Amino acid sequence: MSLTRILVADDEESMRWVLSKALKRKGFSVDLAIDGRQALAMIQDNSYDLAILDIKMPGISGLDLLDKVREQKKELLVVIMTAEASMKNAVEAMKRGAYDYITKPFDLDVIDAIIEKVARAREVAGQVTMLKQELKDRYQVEKNIIGNSPAMREVYKTIGKVAVSDVTVLVQGESGTGKELVARAVHFNSGRLGKPFVAINCAAIPKELLESELFGSEKGAFTGAVERKLGKFEQANQGTLFLDEIGDMPLDLQAKILRVLQEREVTRTGGNQSIPVDVRIVAATNQELMEKVRQKEFREDLFYRLNVVPINLVPLRERREDIPQLVQYFLNRVCTEMDVPTKQCSDEAMTVLTGHSWPGNVRELENAIKRAVILSNDQLLTGDDFSGLEPVSGVEPAGSKDASLEVIVDGKLRACLKGIEQLEKGEIHSMVLEQVERPLIRIILEKTRWNQVKAADILGINRNTLRKKISELGIELKRD
Ligand SMILES: Nc1ncnc2c1ncn2[C@@H]1O[C@H](COP(=O)(O)OP(=O)(O)OP(=O)(O)O)[C@@H](O)[C@H]1O
Ligand SMILES: [Mg+2]
Repeated sequence: MSLTRILVADDEESMRWVLSKALKRKGFSVDLAIDGRQALAMIQDNSYDLAILDIKMPGISGLDLLDKVREQKKELLVVIMTAEASMKNAVEAMKRGAYDYITKPFDLDVIDAIIEKVARAREVAGQVTMLKQELKDRYQVEKNIIGNSPAMREVYKTIGKVAVSDVTVLVQGESGTGKELVARAVHFNSGRLGKPFVAINCAAIPKELLESELFGSEKGAFTGAVERKLGKFEQANQGTLFLDEIGDMPLDLQAKILRVLQEREVTRTGGNQSIPVDVRIVAATNQELMEKVRQKEFREDLFYRLNVVPINLVPLRERREDIPQLVQYFLNRVCTEMDVPTKQCSDEAMTVLTGHSWPGNVRELENAIKRAVILSNDQLLTGDDFSGLEPVSGVEPAGSKDASLEVIVDGKLRACLKGIEQLEKGEIHSMVLEQVERPLIRIILEKTRWNQVKAADILGINRNTLRKKISELGIELKRD
């Protein structure tokens, strides 16, 4: 986005001549207008990058022209030339939205300097727009956080709701469930996009260092503090500070954090000056923070300060319906990154993946896919490529959190429907439903000792419906 087209408007011919010559020599394309009216017409008909307007022209003055430009061509930058070095005119020009002003007579260097400044500003503006778009793309919730389970949909809703405000968010979930991903999504969907997102892992930094990492330190605050250091709060100013593993924050520091959150200012270690900070906090933990509060290991007041809006990330084993989508996503991503054609998962492999208990959650799944893609020479990944994973064995006892009926059925169905081409048109739906319905009714009848009234009650269907189904499904009635 470089600067190319410039309009010069001045009723003084010598001025037009000088400017035009100087600018053309620099390689710009220059148009000239002899008064305000002509300048306005040219501005409306062309797209200039910069207009240099004399303040005093017959017809429309430079300032009136400036007003019109601000209304009609917002992106056009205007430099106003004034004859007398009057402060009033200069102030007026800037107030009405001029980019800069120059007083006549001027040295051509002044023009050069302004043009350079404009060019740089435009370049930066262009880069910022691009960067913002890029960041937005990277962190568009729908593109980067995968999963369509009710639990995840709830998460997206909350991200959307909290993004516009500055409320503090506490993200809780087991390791690898995507807490950092969610924290970033909150930031990159907020008005603080384009401002820093600063993360600090409270568990990874030794206790003695954590304080100065967070709040900064003055030169000489302690041995080794050879220069002033900005803390994470200051680094994150106007942006978002992600306090990761907040559950591991030592109690004395918890008190300090609380004070910063209340007073919105920090004091560097070894300093005595309060520095105001404007920071949005997103905290995360994989521990039961409320339990830590009960154990007096985490300050209750801080907990409530942080937990203004909680986002709870459910373990992957409790939202297995997200697994196929995640698998596809990681296959695409990993293969693209490695620059190999996208591999696919066989049905059998998918059964293994949906059946695994994923103690390491999404991160573990991501790593499993990476490993399989790297190690396998085939286009199609099979169950063997995931043999390191523990499958869920057989049918789980009722009430088990580890595998829902749906997952088991999903796995079995995939296996059964392998030869799908051989099935007759239109018979799958009723065939599958029959095979699920028949055992269901038989089991309930057995449990109620073949009492059809009770069974219908438990099943929640009408007695006549049950009778009809028994005969249609060919269920053999028994009596104990
Ligand atoms: N829903 C998801 N969709 C896509 N990728 C995900 C999802 N959840 C997690 N990931 C990916 O899994 C990995 C782990 O996620 P993240 O680092 O956010 O987890 P975490 O909860 O912060 O884990 P820990 O507690 O171990 O720090 C990352 O590579 C992340 O991109
Ligand atoms: Mg994390």
